[in-house]
Amino acid sequence: MITTTDIKIHKTNKSRIAEYDINNVPFGKCFSDHMFVAEYANGKWERSYIEPYQNVPMSYATSALHYGQAIFEGMKAYKNDNGEVAIFRPYENLNRLNKSAIRMAMPEVPEEIFMGGLIELLKLDAAWVPSSETGSLYIRPFIIATDEAIGVKSSDTYKFIIITCPAGKYYSEPIKVLVETKYFRAVHGGVGFVKAAGNYGRSLYPTKLAQQRGYQQVIWTDSKTNQYVEESGTMNLMFVIGETLLTPELSDTILSGITRKSVLQLAKHWGMKIEERKISIREILTAQGNGNLKEAFGVGTAATIAQIISIGCDGKDYELPPVNSRVFSNKIDETLRNIRKGKIKDEFDWMYKV
Ligand SMILES: Cc1ncc(COP(=O)(O)O)c(C=O)c1O
Repeated sequence: MITTTDIKIHKTNKSRIAEYDINNVPFGKCFSDHMFVAEYANGKWERSYIEPYQNVPMSYATSALHYGQAIFEGMKAYKNDNGEVAIFRPYENLNRLNKSAIRMAMPEVPEEIFMGGLIELLKLDAAWVPSSETGSLYIRPFIIATDEAIGVKSSDTYKFIIITCPAGKYYSEPIKVLVETKYFRAVHGGVGFVKAAGNYGRSLYPTKLAQQRGYQQVIWTDSKTNQYVEESGTMNLMFVIGETLLTPELSDTILSGITRKSVLQLAKHWGMKIEERKISIREILTAQGNGNLKEAFGVGTAATIAQIISIGCDGKDYELPPVNSRVFSNKIDETLRNIRKGKIKDEFDWMYKV
């Protein structure tokens, strides 16, 4: 078994950080100095190392590229006013990564490799964690099948890699979303509940069509009846109708978001009425019509809260109340930001100090 002390560390002798204003970079395009890699072969994780972030030679026959045995995670680290770095709920990401691994017939990553690699990497690249109010270091752990072989079978070799990039605000404006009833993100018995790379590839065409019509994202509906909302883009969905917080109940077609889980925990703690159940498009549009739909928003690591300002359905746009009137989601956004930046007490022990 690999332990943290087995991680071979090869530091860069020339940091690239001075090339960027890390408090002001486009999302996902500027990578920090180092990356963590663990290699799986002969039925076990054999070696792990940190090396300068770089391109690596890879065969065009690499099986992940052809058959999609590729899974990933997304999480964030934050810097408080004292310059200390902490990661938001990393064990949740580890658990979900391993759930994805099982479903995709890939090896699970042991805790000591995931957490050991993550902590060593963040210690080395702590300077890359933005200190701005809305900044964070986005962390991308992923596993890919690395057999050099054509032929549909599960790979015998894999790499678990962690790369990171400074990130600012994901959406600068509230978003317009389109209810999608022709194409589906996930189907029962499929892989919608895990973070398999193919889920994202298949979502691009319907998203492109929606964007051509002036929407930023789609609202995915269930593939059986097209009547129930599931997620929006790569976010879980939430609504405030009257005084109740509503969100679609989890199933094998919905990703169990860590932001979703955190929002529900906070809402429960505040004594808010919560309903996790099937939510039909008709229910949402009826509530919009009679003035009961107070808030609609997506929740996820990248955006935290993405306010939805209008919902397109059957050729009509349904406008929602202005963002500054939305008491619950604004309070959630502020509370999560304050917990992450160490400005208020971390009552739920969500932050993992590096
Ligand atoms: C399909 C999908 N739904 C929801 C989420 C939100 O999950 P989390 O809050 O863990 O980022 C994500 C992002 O990971 C996603 O890809």
